[in-house]
Amino acid sequence: MDLISLFKTRRSYRRFDENRSVPEEVIDSMKEAIRLSSSAGNTQELKYVFVRDREKADKIFEHLRFAAYLPEDRGRPKEGERPVLYVLVMKDKNKNLKWINTDAGIAAANMTLAAWEKGVGSCIIANMDREDIAGILGTDKEMEILFTIALGYPIHRSEVVPLKEDGSIKYYVDEEMNYYVPKKAAEDMISII
Ligand SMILES: Cc1cc2nc3c(=O)[nH]c(=O)nc-3n(C[C@H](O)[C@H](O)[C@H](O)COP(=O)(O)O)c2cc1C
Repeated sequence: MDLISLFKTRRSYRRFDENRSVPEEVIDSMKEAIRLSSSAGNTQELKYVFVRDREKADKIFEHLRFAAYLPEDRGRPKEGERPVLYVLVMKDKNKNLKWINTDAGIAAANMTLAAWEKGVGSCIIANMDREDIAGILGTDKEMEILFTIALGYPIHRSEVVPLKEDGSIKYYVDEEMNYYVPKKAAEDMISII
């Protein structure tokens, strides 16, 4: 797939085939995408935890909140649809690195694209109970979880659509729970001078 098609289709996916785990080859590709990411001053200070263990993954799931624009029965994955892999992105609480959130965003974009190139969908999740998840993972107390990325093979479609007349940016779903994600026109965001 060419790069723009990858950007178009690499949407947030929230329902997955829970019986299909993410193969080693995809994990290797994501690891390399992280390793090659830019960071301010080339500091490379972020840490990542990949959670494949099903028991831990199920526990993490209980502390994540999905699709704030949808009612819970439409937005939250049901049993059999839950993510099969999580990547926790963490920073050291003691290090005051001004651009660390930018670094994290770049790494997230790279790793989700690397996964999607191989058919694995993802959703970045920042709305979660950080303390509980840190407890489940037994992470170092000095590390702060910035966000997690939930992954798996999607079982729904997600399509970019233009904004409707009311200008709403809220994504919505159809009867089959496929997503429609309104995106602004480039001219509404970008000027070239
Ligand atoms: C920093 C960040 C935090 C997000 N947190 C959540 C979240 O807690 N729960 C969720 O379901 N989606 C979350 N998302 C996914 C966004 O809702 C999604 O990116 C947005 O609706 C646009 O959809 P798209 O990714 O398909 O373009 C997050 C995305 C980003 C970039």
